[in-house]
Amino acid sequence: MQYGYFDDRNREYVITRPDTPLPWINYLGCQDYFGLISNTAGGYSFYRDARMRRITRYRYNNLPPDQGGRYVYVRDNESGAYWSPSGQPTVRNLEEYTCRHGLGYSIIGSTYAGITAHTRYFVPLDENLEIWQMTLVNHRLQRASLSLYSCVEFCLWDAQDDATNFQRNFSIGEVEVEDGVIYHKTEYRERRNHFAWFACSEAVDGFDTQREAFFGPGRGWDRPLMVEQGQSANSIAHGWEPIGSHRVSLRLEPGETRQVLFVLGYHENPADRKFDPPDSQTLDKRTVRPVIARYRNAGAADRAFDCLRKYWNGLLDICQVETPEPHVDRMVNVWNAYQCMATFNLSRSASYYESGIGRGLGFRDSNQDLLGFVHMAPERARARILDLAATQLPSGGAYHQFQPLTKKGNNEVGSGFNDDPHWLILGVAAYLKETGGWGILDEPVPYDSEAGSEEPLYGHLQRSFHYTLERLGPHGLPLIGRADWNDCLNLNCFSETPGQSFQTTTNKDGKVAESVFIAGLFVLAAKEFAEIARRRGCTSEAHQCLEAAARMTESVRKHGWDGAWFVRAYDDFGRKVGSRECDEGQIFIEPQGFCVMAGIGLEDGRARHALDSVRQYLATPHGIMLQQPAYSRYYLHLGEISSYPPGYKENAGIFCHNNPWVMIAEALTGDGDAALDYYLRINPSARETISDVHRNEPYVYAQMIAGRDAPTHGEAKNSWLTGTAAWNYHAVTQWILGIRPDYDGLRIAPVIPGHWEGFWAHRNFRGVSYDIRVHREGPGNRVSLTVDGQPLADNLVPPPANGRAALAVDVRVG
Ligand code: BGC
Ligand code: NOJ
Repeated sequence: MQYGYFDDRNREYVITRPDTPLPWINYLGCQDYFGLISNTAGGYSFYRDARMRRITRYRYNNLPPDQGGRYVYVRDNESGAYWSPSGQPTVRNLEEYTCRHGLGYSIIGSTYAGITAHTRYFVPLDENLEIWQMTLVNHRLQRASLSLYSCVEFCLWDAQDDATNFQRNFSIGEVEVEDGVIYHKTEYRERRNHFAWFACSEAVDGFDTQREAFFGPGRGWDRPLMVEQGQSANSIAHGWEPIGSHRVSLRLEPGETRQVLFVLGYHENPADRKFDPPDSQTLDKRTVRPVIARYRNAGAADRAFDCLRKYWNGLLDICQVETPEPHVDRMVNVWNAYQCMATFNLSRSASYYESGIGRGLGFRDSNQDLLGFVHMAPERARARILDLAATQLPSGGAYHQFQPLTKKGNNEVGSGFNDDPHWLILGVAAYLKETGGWGILDEPVPYDSEAGSEEPLYGHLQRSFHYTLERLGPHGLPLIGRADWNDCLNLNCFSETPGQSFQTTTNKDGKVAESVFIAGLFVLAAKEFAEIARRRGCTSEAHQCLEAAARMTESVRKHGWDGAWFVRAYDDFGRKVGSRECDEGQIFIEPQGFCVMAGIGLEDGRARHALDSVRQYLATPHGIMLQQPAYSRYYLHLGEISSYPPGYKENAGIFCHNNPWVMIAEALTGDGDAALDYYLRINPSARETISDVHRNEPYVYAQMIAGRDAPTHGEAKNSWLTGTAAWNYHAVTQWILGIRPDYDGLRIAPVIPGHWEGFWAHRNFRGVSYDIRVHREGPGNRVSLTVDGQPLADNLVPPPANGRAALAVDVRVG
């Protein structure tokens, strides 16, 4: 069953009914000002940091669900009827409801009582504001007399405080209203120099800023008293709950179309020019007035929208493909790339599953996200790498998370996740391969954000690498610390106290529990680092890295192989995790994918063997489960993992993040059929027709799909902000389609299914446009290339020596 369809030409997903199984959302904004918007206009906005600069209020996990957002009520002044064209918060029998989620914008609307109303929501580039551009059409035979009511609820900036500290919050709210513009200035009197404003393109007939006055006692979003009565109270909020609502009257002749714009913005004043006059408490509006004036006008909004479209199209056009598989094309060309930008922008902070107050930017997560967007935003990738590295600790370890506004490591979570440092190496390697920008390695970067501790980025990579060598366990495998990639495998935390954090309550000395996954990650990172070192002229260092990788490989062969697959870990008692010897949790996906990606077992058949075991024990039609058998009960010594009921999350859920590791591993062993088969099992577009089972958005990946042991097998959760986006994009573009940036050029090594006759791809790489045509000539994966008609010796296309801006690459596979 479907709830909409892909409009591929317009790069939109069109939802055709408001009652999707869950809110299906989109993101507005891509620089500093962000918003989340659901298909019924729910959601909220913030400036840079979803916790510390929350502009509008949203209540997670509420009932009814998904209330609070960017709402406009339409009221028919003759009948008194009123409705929400976006399907919420009033629920009516709407005609022609559609929500078009596009790239950085959503257009939501419907027809009701002869009035069509659609609102285009977007954030213009380089501005800290959002535009709600509403188009109304009167299809009636008579003139319509309407009132429009906008409404947002302001959040008092710090979203955590806003949801908890009511003894204070109910007394601090302050607003100003001038020329129909509502200014929200809570806490501006003290240390803030920012405020929010909410304007309308039309002269307003009334307004409200006090929530209770607008809604009336005991009422909710679905029945605001002022709308019901066709009035406004012109309330000024003093404490309690500030809102912003305009009332606009419209007369529409039969057939007439009108546009009305509402604009919500964030503005900062210089610290010494907060008030006007300076000794007053009145907002200085001199710098914000011109911004407001500019966007109260539909022409300016249209131009801003065109720029936004060009921006997104420009990013996506960097890599475009045409293959025999429409689900590949759609995800690679539009949605997966778009999701990669969202995960870059927001890391794991704000989605419909991440509340924006819990997690800042993850060190591990943000480094992996680079894999998915570095080709679209190399400059921003560079800046992100430097920010991440600046939170690294002198030990080479890393704060697990940092807040984007302060860019400082998060002390509450701390460090000690022993995989973290290696992701920096992989992230930097991806950046170097894409851009050739070797200068980044010489950038001075501090440790722990301490001025004076700067060292070239290269030194940070050295410390990342040595971090593991200084922390080896009894089997010569890396000690796991608080957790590795699997945040829920907490082998050093034995807390019996309900509610204690699995990750931060570390109460073992951590000298025994080891991770085979980190061993694989280490070998892969060591190979990358050796290559970087060699190219920097540090040959003996490169050599030492490779020796360390070889020693680690040997430890994995001796102590990390279970007979038919790679072991997952050793626990604090030195017992195996992820082995035939275990009662449950005998085989885990992570080491199978990652050890093979690191090249372990490719030569002696173990790689194939491990992948066959994955197929036999872990694969389901909905994707590959994280482990089997699921833990049926709680095992204290394993940490959070078995806290989940079987089939969910890390306890045998289908973690879409690590499925692509197996796809890459399959491609490395030459099995393009298996790689694509796994790819399609979790590809959201390929699951569109089972939207009633999958339930999450069919245009973006979710972190998790319930595994075979769950009563809801096949149901996705936690969409949008997940490493799944980057890894699937990386797997399909670089390992299945095989278009792979490398230090010395663009490598082209497709491992595609046997039945594919070929495909076409366009890729911009270091300023050169590659037109790539792949033809299958035989059943294998051997590649022969010609570039502009000239045969090449191997599969690497070097940058054109003659300064040409476009190359035609012909690829024969067989
Ligand atoms: C989740 C993990 C997540 C971790 C973050 C756990 O509850 O299961 O997926 O990485 O929290 O701290
Ligand atoms: C989600 C976290 O964001 C990520 O860092 C972690 O690797 C996975 N969960 C698996 O636990």
